[in-house]
Amino acid sequence: MSKVGVIFDLDGVIVDTAKYHFLAWKKLADGLGFEFTEEHNELLKGVSRVRSLEILLDIGNVTVSEEKKQEFLVSKNEDYLGYITKMEADEILPGASELLDALDAAGIKYVLGSASKNAPLILKQIGLYDRFEGIVDGNSVSKAKPDPEVFLIGAEKLKLSPDQCVVFEDAIAGIEAAKNANMISVGIGDKNTLSEADYNFNDLTEVPVNFFEALMTLN
Ligand code: BG6
Ligand code: MG
Repeated sequence: MSKVGVIFDLDGVIVDTAKYHFLAWKKLADGLGFEFTEEHNELLKGVSRVRSLEILLDIGNVTVSEEKKQEFLVSKNEDYLGYITKMEADEILPGASELLDALDAAGIKYVLGSASKNAPLILKQIGLYDRFEGIVDGNSVSKAKPDPEVFLIGAEKLKLSPDQCVVFEDAIAGIEAAKNANMISVGIGDKNTLSEADYNFNDLTEVPVNFFEALMTLN
């Protein structure tokens, strides 16, 4: 491979927003009168907002009308916005800024590939919005991860073929999406949870300096 490009997931890779999603979903569950735990929250990682609500309602064994679901989606997002509009650069996860700097220095392009409709806002809050070659988010896709759509659009923005793209992901659905797109996958987080990934690191500080150079010398 003579050339590589990188596609970054946002939530759980560049910022830890899972805690804010948790608080906002928990408020909804509390209102509906059932318990929503951090363990339950794991099931929502990488999953679209609509799908997250369906999973949450299943957990509580709650059935509601379509109209009510729309109401819940709006109120959950309002609560979530209350948290993310206070985010600043100090919430960038360890190693992320350094990795982007290293990619810039090596002339390797990168885009965002996130399921979140709030991705542009979060990137602006933490000051990284202008760093990306392109942004693919929940507003630009019709099929959620593990469908490869989000990453395939990312490859187009990078002007690279899928097998030249390296995806950084913290969610099982995201690793599956990368595999479905025929891309190289890097799991960030628990190695056992993300055992399907081609490479695993606990966080971005662990990515070796020669990681991309080594990939480019393969085949
Ligand atoms: C993903 C998160 O990045 O975005 C999911 O991992 C979340 O937990 C999804 O449900 C959608 O986010 P948003 O911001 O559009 O509600
Ligand atoms: Mg994620």
